[in-house]
Amino acid sequence: MRYFKRYLVTSALPYANGPLHIGHLAGAYLSADIYVRFLRLMDKEVAFICGSDEHGAAITIRAAKEGVSPQEIVDKYHDLFKTTFEKAGISFDIYHRTSAEIHHQTSQDFFKTLYENGEFEEKESEQYFDQEAQQFLADRYIKGTCPKCSHDAAYGDQCENCGSALSPTDLINPVSTITGNTPTLKKTRHWYLPLNKYESWLKEWIENGKLDGKELHDPSDWKNHVLGQCKSWIDGGLHPRAMTRDLSWGVDVPKEIEGAEGKKLYVWLDAPIGYISATKEWAAANGKNWEDYWKDDDSAVIHFIGKDNIVFHCLIFPSILKAHGEYNLPYNVPANQFLNLEGQKISTSRNWAVWVHEFVEDMPDHIDVLRYAMVKNMPEIKDSEFTWKAFQEYNNNELVNNLANYVNRVVVLTNKYYEGRVPDFDENRDLVGALGEMETSYHDSELLGLFDKLHIYCDYLRKYDFRSALNILMEISSNGNQILQFNEPWKAIKDDEELVKVVMNLSLQYLAALGTAIRPFLPGTSDKILALLNLDSVKEKGELVKMMDELAEGNLLIPINHQIAKPDHIFSRIEDEIIAKQVAKLGAMTVEEDTTKPALKDNISFDDFMKMEIRTATIIEAKKVEKADKLLELQLDLGFEKRTVVSGIAEHYSVDEVVGKKVSLLANLEPRKIRGVESQGMILMAEGENGSLSFVSPDEGWPNGMTIR
Ligand code: MF3
Ligand code: ZN
Repeated sequence: MRYFKRYLVTSALPYANGPLHIGHLAGAYLSADIYVRFLRLMDKEVAFICGSDEHGAAITIRAAKEGVSPQEIVDKYHDLFKTTFEKAGISFDIYHRTSAEIHHQTSQDFFKTLYENGEFEEKESEQYFDQEAQQFLADRYIKGTCPKCSHDAAYGDQCENCGSALSPTDLINPVSTITGNTPTLKKTRHWYLPLNKYESWLKEWIENGKLDGKELHDPSDWKNHVLGQCKSWIDGGLHPRAMTRDLSWGVDVPKEIEGAEGKKLYVWLDAPIGYISATKEWAAANGKNWEDYWKDDDSAVIHFIGKDNIVFHCLIFPSILKAHGEYNLPYNVPANQFLNLEGQKISTSRNWAVWVHEFVEDMPDHIDVLRYAMVKNMPEIKDSEFTWKAFQEYNNNELVNNLANYVNRVVVLTNKYYEGRVPDFDENRDLVGALGEMETSYHDSELLGLFDKLHIYCDYLRKYDFRSALNILMEISSNGNQILQFNEPWKAIKDDEELVKVVMNLSLQYLAALGTAIRPFLPGTSDKILALLNLDSVKEKGELVKMMDELAEGNLLIPINHQIAKPDHIFSRIEDEIIAKQVAKLGAMTVEEDTTKPALKDNISFDDFMKMEIRTATIIEAKKVEKADKLLELQLDLGFEKRTVVSGIAEHYSVDEVVGKKVSLLANLEPRKIRGVESQGMILMAEGENGSLSFVSPDEGWPNGMTIR
């Protein structure tokens, strides 16, 4: 994996339709932030790009639910995201938005170029339509069973369970998410990107890193799960994908194109182009040339995303870029897997989530702890889990006991022995090094060892192995603690002052190194350590390269006689109550958030309830009612008598399925004639979300005729 001169690093643009939770943070934002801060420390030119994804059904559906305009929704969440990211220490160079004029312009230009290049296929086809809502149903407007993994709530563009890219017509039992109706088909025209025609170059590019004979990336640098997903999609066959939609919210298909009226760009066409429009906006404001970042050979584009976005960033967006013809394809797409929470999947509707905007308000002093805990558990290659208990333990056992303890000891002892000045020392003096062995020369041994460690640290970071990189830093800190422990300056100060000077000088150099190197992971802690050392805070302008050079040349990182500050604690213990409070919030619903709670009917009296005569029964015969698709005529055995009941379940159960079923019968419902048959009661059914039905049955083995109350 080589270094480039310049990097364009992106984090997935979050849909501005609801707050962000720590799963999002772990997926696309924190790792990108760490990587970017590292690149800046390595003196690379970097543009770190993100913004709100303000189009697509995710937004309009949310707006409809809340009875407000889509614009109100995106404004609210865009502002929330922007401040939350800032407070969480995510250091975007720009946080843009896709409702911006420059974005509409850029994505329309893109569309026009592809259109003029003859890349699209224009096709009329039958698409699902909701008669009641008078709307075509694409993407999140339609739900059904995933043909690949059988997940029963896959969307029309994607199954969030297995990540497959879908089309509405792939769904089994599709229903409209607006009305719950089963859709009908209606003709419409759209422009398609013929992904099927790109299969062979996509395969060559993803699997071998080559395009038109040029070496673009080394596939062994790509994560296996990312390569695996891409390969399986390509091998499964790609299909033309519509790049336009019949919607009222989004970027207009450019007016000049015939048939554009009423059509919008597909959100997965416009959103990734958002990376480009944001780059333009940032470059203009900062005296840069945006094209350097997207088109130059010495620039790398890197997309940080969650695994549900892989297909869009590895196949569809690259296809769009290549069809345009001028852009670099991504050098890497280091997607993360999912983060679970306290043993369960994170769920917005059940409020099983740690909300980032709440965390930054509740625990503003613990941002670095969260970052630390998330890196330790980052779902880099497989799904992982966040628990509050582990959060507490990382803080108390590692940050407090190891890192903060080290910082504090060094600062306290330096103040105590040398009035806060870095002591001079005898370079040839022995000390017991980090490995517990006697070392004869300070520079040749410990400081070069430190250099080697930092070198490995950089290598891990470069390969997106963030956990291993962080572990190196924590090792440096525990080595530092060991050096103090082995040499016991608090004892030696009485009879071996020369030893104490070597030990304390070395400890201060270690600390200076940590203060800089820890920056990508714990930016606030970096500031605190460097403030304690009375050194300039890191501006992320090549400081790591500079430091490595100093170490390689045997120079000190903090000079002799430099005056440091007075001691102060950089982390404190987190007590059980704080953790218990956070755990208690999980799954708790406030009325406002609880959009899943149905409206219940008015209360009835106990007497009203007791008027109902409900009995257990068994279906002993069944037949279809002629010319009525929904009805079955059933014979029921109540034990003490038999009944005929007409029931509207024929679309859910066949005659064979129902015979022998135990059911509950409302037996004193006034008899009614249905299609000429007298129905003597009503079978109780539980109705599921999409109109699916289930019998309400007594346990196996219970007799007919029992009373139900
Ligand atoms: N909004 C999408 C999501 O949250 C991600 C868009 S990424 C972009 O899943 F590339 F399209 F911008
Ligand atoms: Zn699936």
